[in-house]
Order: sequence, then structure tokens, then C-alpha cells
Amino acid sequence: MAMQDDSQWTSLETKIAQLRKLQEEALQGGGEKRIQKMHEQGKLVARERIEVLLDEGTFEEIDMLVRHQSRDFGLENQRYLGDSVVVGLGKIEGRTVCVFSQDFTVFGGSLSGAHAEKICKIMDMAMKIGVPVIGLNDSGGARIQEGVVSLGAYADIFLRNTLASGVVPQISAIMGPCAGGAVYSPAITDFIFMVRDRSYMFVTGPNVVKTVTHEEVTFKELGGAVTHATKSGVSHFVAENDVDCLRQLRRLITFIPLNNSEEPPYKTPSDPVDRMDEKLNSIVPSNPSKPYDVKEVIRMVVDDGDFMEVHDRYAENMVIGFARMNGQSVGIVANQPLALAGVLDIDSSIKAARFVRFCDAFNIPLITFVDVPGFLPGTVQEWGGIIKHGAKLLYAFCEATVPKITIILRKAYGGAYDVMSSKHIRGDFNYAWPSAEIAVMGPKGAAEIIFRREIAEAEDPEAALLEKEKEYRDKFANPYLAAERGFVDDVIEPKTTRAKICWALEVLRNKVDKNPPKKHGNIPL
Ligand code: HXC
Repeated sequence: MAMQDDSQWTSLETKIAQLRKLQEEALQGGGEKRIQKMHEQGKLVARERIEVLLDEGTFEEIDMLVRHQSRDFGLENQRYLGDSVVVGLGKIEGRTVCVFSQDFTVFGGSLSGAHAEKICKIMDMAMKIGVPVIGLNDSGGARIQEGVVSLGAYADIFLRNTLASGVVPQISAIMGPCAGGAVYSPAITDFIFMVRDRSYMFVTGPNVVKTVTHEEVTFKELGGAVTHATKSGVSHFVAENDVDCLRQLRRLITFIPLNNSEEPPYKTPSDPVDRMDEKLNSIVPSNPSKPYDVKEVIRMVVDDGDFMEVHDRYAENMVIGFARMNGQSVGIVANQPLALAGVLDIDSSIKAARFVRFCDAFNIPLITFVDVPGFLPGTVQEWGGIIKHGAKLLYAFCEATVPKITIILRKAYGGAYDVMSSKHIRGDFNYAWPSAEIAVMGPKGAAEIIFRREIAEAEDPEAALLEKEKEYRDKFANPYLAAERGFVDDVIEPKTTRAKICWALEVLRNKVDKNPPKKHGNIPL
């Protein structure tokens, strides 16, 4: 029998070598020069970012060998392996996440059809296996050479963002440009991180703005991290650089469940449930007009004082963020007397409403600290739609079925009392401190209205007002009338707050509450 001649076949070794060569080529992205340029700008490149984001050695890349399919404008000769996005799965503190990281070294991270298909594939995977999607955005927008293909490709992502909303957490880090319609994918996601001085988001850039409105504005002023963290509220977190951004993002993931059917992660606590901070008993000033920092209250109550604030520079009259109580993740919502006396206005209502809905969608109990003098008066607020925006927060708290624990620290006046997770809108355990003032309005305003005639006719109207104000305060500015009605379940000593909340969370662990079946509600937008 003749010997078989295998020399015509390529050996497996050679094929493996070929694969390795392709992999090496893919890892080069747009090439050394472009990588160097990014490093010179203080930026990490796509895969370096993923390395910082994920637990060491856990990243499994997929679609590394995808190439774009364009044949126009010379693109047929520039078919980078992986195109302009790196996608895959990995772990954060041992829990699986799906990631995409746009590669600015390839056509400026611009979105081709192939790029979008990779993102859609990893998003579909995230939905199937029930894990968060983390998008690291750094892109010049639509791949200009691909024209309408790119527009359709964006819409494919927007649709998936919307369908995934409330099913798996979606988190965006903006680490470079993000302009035009591209902003709408991050905008639909749950949280946006931006990097100071290195990232920007806008629908139309400074040049278009100048042409249309004649305004002169820089990239940074128009859509930089600080602008979006303070003025528009688009960005929830500002980072100093890429590494800081990715570390903050890792921290956020530790507070939230992987999907909407999971409980939030539990971290074995070291802080005793019955720890009592004596300072809480004196933190609220006896003069009701004097402010104090509600963040101090929060830190004294939560596990190890560890509070991850969200939106810390936007609508500062409302404080929101994540913490743990006896190891269990909770969402905190608190009026902040240090800013605008903790009043509810348009921005703070929107800020808190979205947070409440996130927590409710992902089974994170809500702890609400109340010190609110009411809604902010004025034409700016009324014409700006405080009615519909305030209603968002009311709606969000009403709709939420997660465990809801409310502590009234001081003022709970008027409609704002109802809004702030009151008993009437399904608060599970509502407590008040002895300093609480639960009333239709502040004593001064109330006295001016109900004793108007007496005050006007008094010899000394100013003294009469003070006297009537005191009369009203003595009668109504306390927690006991609400307690008589069962509107608060108990009046508690401030230092016992931590123990009370931990107990309440424990008993509410198996809480079941449902909303009526419906396609979806119609929150006032
Ligand atoms: C194709 C692009 C690109 C794009 C950048 N590049 N943007 N290629 N499509 N959209 C390429 C550049 O040609 C360059 O290639 C490389 O990426 C890096 O770009 P630079 O300009 O050198 O970088 P930089 O100076 O940092 O400026 C970044 C930039 C700028 C501000 C993003 O590139 C820019 O303005 N790009 C165009 C942005 C844009 O108009 N996009 C379309 C928006 S419309 P080389 O080979 O030199 O490395 C849109 C519609 C979306 O996005 C609609 C969704 C519904």
C-alpha cells in the first residue's frame, strides 16, 4: 500500500500559528502610533480599560475576528480585526458581567454595522444569562463612510437598551467623545460615569451651536463631565481619570444585583446591628431654621459609614445613593437641609424619582430620611413644570413595592410629607424622631393664614404673629398627632435608628406586594 503524502495539507501547528498571528494583530487595534497618542493624552485604550474594570484574568473576549463589511471610500483596505469595539464577559468581585469597550484607535471608535452587531450580541447574551451590561464609550459617532447602515445600527442598540431596562442593570462610562444620536444609548442606561476633562456628551457640538444660536461655547462647557454632573444631571458620577472611573464603576456593581429576579448582593457585615451613635441624639438643631448635614446622619446609620453617593453635585437638596444595612444593599433617599433647606424642586424630584425606580426594579430596599419644608415656590418652578416633575417622585414612591422604611427627622410639611415615602403610599415602617414636625405647613405660614385678622388687628402685629406661630408650633409641630393616627408606626430615639432599620429590613425580607396587572403605567414625563 502506497504511503499517504500529507505534505499538501497545512499542519495544525501552522494553523495555530496563523490563529496566534491574527490574535496578535487584533490586539494591536488601530496600531502602535494611535495607542501611543491615547497614552499621551492620559487615556487607556479599550482593552486596558477592560483589564482595570474586571477581576484579573477573567476577561473572555468574543468577536475578536469580526471585520467591517464596507467597500466604500477605501475602507476595503482598512479592515481592522475586531473593528472598533472590544466585547466579552468577565467578572467583578467574582460576579459575571458583559462588557463592550469602544476602541478609539480604530476609526476613532466610530460605529460601523459590524461594531453595532458586536454590541448587540453581547447585550443579547447579557439578557439571556441575566447579567449587567457595562459600556465603555469612546467614539466619534456614526462611521461616516457607512452612512445609513450606521444609523440603523444605532437604533438596534437603542432598542436593546430599552428592552433591557429594568431587566439587567446597564451602566455607561463615557471616556472620550460621545456626540449626536450616540448619546441616547448611554442616556437610556441606568448610570453614567464621565471622566473629567477627557469626555464629553452633546447632541450637537460647539460649531453647530454657534451657527444656529450664535452662542460661543467650548466642548467642555457644553458637554464636559462637570457640566453634566452639575447642570444637566445627565452624568451621575465624575471621575478624575480612566482608572478612577473604572474603580468607581466596580464599586457601584457591588451594591446591585445581576438582574431583576435576583436579590442584591450581601456582604457579611462587621458593623453591629445595635450600634448606637450618641451624636444622632443631638444632630438636629432645636432651631428649625438651622441646617445640618443629612449625609452625616446617613453615615452614622449605615454599615461602616460606607455610602456611595449618586449625583452628588446635582440637585444637592436631595441626597441619593447606595449603602448597606446589616450587609444588605439599600438605596438611600434623603432631603438635605444644607441645600435650599431640603426643599423639593424640579431637579431634586427627577433625580430621586429615577433612583427610586432603579431600586424598585432591582429589588433594592429604600430607606428614606425626611426633612422637607415643602415644594419650592416661584414662577421658575411653576412654569418649569414642578407639578408634573414633583408628580414623578410621588408616582415612583407609590409604585415601588420593595421594602420601604421612612424616618422623619424634622420637617415633613404639606404635599412633600405625602411624597416622601409616607405611610399612605405604602411605606412599610415609618418612624419619626421626637424632633419631627409633621404638619400641613410651617408654623409661620400657618399662623399668617389662619390668624390673619387677629394679627392685623393686634397692637403689635409682629409680636402677635410670633405668639400665634408658637401656638401653632406647640400644637402641631411634633410627631405625636401623626403617631395618634398611626401615620408613623413609632416615635424613636434618634440613636436607635440603625437598629430599627436593620430590624425592619429583616422582617421585610419576604415582603410580597404587587401592583395591578397592566402593560405599563403612565408616569408623568
Ligand atoms: C469614521 C472617524 C470618525 C467617524 C473619527 N474618525 N470620527 N472615522 N467615522 N465618525 C477617525 C478619524 O478620521 C481619525 O482617523 C481617527 O478616527 C481619530 O480621529 P481624530 O479626528 O484624529 O481624533 P480627535 O482629534 O481626537 O477628534 C475626535 C473627534 C473627531 C472630535 C471625534 O474625530 C470628529 O469630530 N469626528 C467626527 C464626529 C462626527 O461628526 N461623527 C458623526 C456624528 S453623526 P485616522 O485614520 O486619522 O486615525 C452621528 C449620528 C449618530 O454620530 C446617529 C445615531 C442615531
